Amino acid sequence: MGKETVKLGLIGLGTIGSGFANLLKNNSSYISEKSGLNLELTRVADKDQAKVEALGFSDSVIASEAKEITENPEIDIVVELIGGLEPARTFVTEALKNGKHVVTANKDLIATHGKELLGLAREKALNIYYEASVGGGIPLIRPLKHSLAVDRICRLVGIVNGTTNYIFTRMAQDKLGLSDALAEAQKLGFAEPDPTNDIEGIDAAYKLMIMSSLAFGSSLEQDRLHVEGIGRVTYEDIDYAREIGYAIKLLVIGERQPEGLALRVHPTLVSFDHPLASVQNEMNAVYIEGDAVGEVMLYGRGAGAMPTATSVLADVTEAARSVVFRPNAGVIESDFTHLPLIPIEELKTRFYLRFLADDRPGVFAALANAFGDENVSLDMVIQKRRVGSTAEIVLVTHEVKEAAFQKALGKVMAIEAIKPESSMIRLLS
Ligand code: HSE
Repeated sequence: MGKETVKLGLIGLGTIGSGFANLLKNNSSYISEKSGLNLELTRVADKDQAKVEALGFSDSVIASEAKEITENPEIDIVVELIGGLEPARTFVTEALKNGKHVVTANKDLIATHGKELLGLAREKALNIYYEASVGGGIPLIRPLKHSLAVDRICRLVGIVNGTTNYIFTRMAQDKLGLSDALAEAQKLGFAEPDPTNDIEGIDAAYKLMIMSSLAFGSSLEQDRLHVEGIGRVTYEDIDYAREIGYAIKLLVIGERQPEGLALRVHPTLVSFDHPLASVQNEMNAVYIEGDAVGEVMLYGRGAGAMPTATSVLADVTEAARSVVFRPNAGVIESDFTHLPLIPIEELKTRFYLRFLADDRPGVFAALANAFGDENVSLDMVIQKRRVGSTAEIVLVTHEVKEAAFQKALGKVMAIEAIKPESSMIRLLS
């Protein structure tokens, strides 16, 4: 059988785009042998001409603007690797309107406008492939969309931000403060020069939305999840958590409950017995629980040019198969329902709390009353150390509704002997 040629247009030659161009060059004959498809990079565009020139493309391949790709009748697949909402949304929309499949690594775009863009793709009998938008080189989207889509997923829990996982690992190993660990992550290229989205949990929230849409079959783009970043976690918290058998991780948690979906992103105490506790440095992992399949864990590099380029190239190859061998079919994510989100106040969790108090008679009694009044049961209470006349107290509650805990916390913080700074971190049940 002769080889079929499928023509690609690439918009964006940053870290992932240039990684993808190099991987395609190195692996195209290998892919051709395996799949019977010739993937030809027909046109490339980037607003920074120096980037295009640095990759040594011939003049006939270089496009001066994106519409030479999105409107080009020869091109079958548009690969969008510029990131951000605009102009990416416009380019993707134009590509679909002009009959091209789209491959993207853009989590902001899929989390925010995924439903609308997938709807347009469906209307046109095309598809959007976005494996690289979550978990870099880890196959996550394809397992959720295909292999696991036949089961009812009840929960997914993940470490999907390499920057914050690296920071927590370094804080734990070398007693670093958050800003020193962040500076080290930036020096090693694990953290962006502007790491706001990583530190504040926004990057992880986008990834949770994308995975949850698939895992739970629900559209989410208009919802507001509960998102907390890592800014308030200190080295002391990591150390005390370790003493009681837990690691601290920035987790994304998605659960199907009878009333709807419970989705949240926050720093979390994870028992050392749980496989996610041993995911170190910049690595990512997602732990999925299904009614029939039981537990599945997917682990690997969640960022970086070549791991992410691998996911992009896998998507391009799947799209190319769709171009050549069959009409696009079986797109499970195009039929979303909309399950309500359960507010965090309604969820039941265990809590870790650390605070400072005057070390004098009656403080523990007042504390016990504040928790007792709101029916918050304590599992563990430790007076860690005394500096001058101030004691540091660490406690862990039994499972309790967030609203009751917050009410009790308000009463605790109002006790005159208790200092205003405190650290509160939820536990993974
Ligand atoms: N900034 C992300 C991380 C990678 O640190 O995991 C891109 O999603």
